[in-house]
Amino acid sequence: MSSRIAELRSEAQERLAGVHTMQELQAWRSAYLGRGGTVTQLLRLLGSLSEEERPAAGREANALKQSLEAAYQVRSEELERQERQRAWHEDRLDVTLPGRAVALGRLHPITRTLREMKAAFGRMGFQVYEGPEVEEDLYNFTLLNMPPYHPARDMHDTFYTTRPGLLLRTHTSPNQVRVMQHLRPPIRVVVPGKVYRYENADPSHDWMFYQMEGFVVGRGITMGHLMGTIQELARQVFGPERRIRFRCDYFPYVEPGLDTAVSCMLCAGVGCRLCRGKGWLEAIPGGMIHPQVLRNCGIDPDRYSGFAFGAGPDRIAALKYGIDDIRRFYGNDLRFLEQFD
Ligand code: DAH
Repeated sequence: MSSRIAELRSEAQERLAGVHTMQELQAWRSAYLGRGGTVTQLLRLLGSLSEEERPAAGREANALKQSLEAAYQVRSEELERQERQRAWHEDRLDVTLPGRAVALGRLHPITRTLREMKAAFGRMGFQVYEGPEVEEDLYNFTLLNMPPYHPARDMHDTFYTTRPGLLLRTHTSPNQVRVMQHLRPPIRVVVPGKVYRYENADPSHDWMFYQMEGFVVGRGITMGHLMGTIQELARQVFGPERRIRFRCDYFPYVEPGLDTAVSCMLCAGVGCRLCRGKGWLEAIPGGMIHPQVLRNCGIDPDRYSGFAFGAGPDRIAALKYGIDDIRRFYGNDLRFLEQFD
């Protein structure tokens, strides 16, 4: 019996050394320690031994069983550890995601143009004011020398509110009056903002667009100052190569009136759809402030004179960036807007 036990022990230990998976370990266990296992059978045999042999054989057999169970335990823990390590390396799952890029906004081309223009005027000593988009007829027309039934009103049809006398401003010029009623000369102000017109939209016209009103009032202000200011604006915004053209024009609130056109860079002056084949785009009308307008603002035209202009940032931006249609600025097409970095 004793030798059989020793044999079994070494055989079991040998086979256990060749066990490499949990499955093999389970098979090993049932082969020796299971119900029909060799060690179990051996223990059953004890009953058939003689009284003298039984105690010693029993001890040895039980010791064998215990040591095999302990060996099983150790091996099983080893295998589990190995399995965990294998899984750690091989089945490793990367649960991190690459970060999502945050879409960075950018400035709208008109905003950029407005900022550039404000900066250019700032360098020339202008202050920036703002006025209301819902405007009174009085400021939009009457005080600018366009009383009711004045034919010049026809060029400015707009969106009226249900309250008589209130409309969406058709230009930023009412702010000449608003500001001049509050400031005393010398005055050097620009007023940027949106304006509205009941307009047939085309590549150079839209029903909403920007303007930047500018005006200077002081002693001895002349047309030369106006032309120099516009020239300097054009130089700063477009660079020195761009040509500008001055011609006479008429607006009821200036005398004399001036039209400033900028050479169309889209077609290099040849003529295109933006400039309607003219090679020039009117972008900065202006003139010497009409004495009556000064009077309407409480400024004595015999002591002071002034010039005013209404620059068109949409057209200036179109000319600057070579855009063939100002309506693109408000079309909300990101493919268009993303080009301005
Ligand atoms: N308000 C005019 C328009 O919207 C533009 C303009 C012309 C503004 C002459 C002025 C000016 O200040 O002097 O068409």
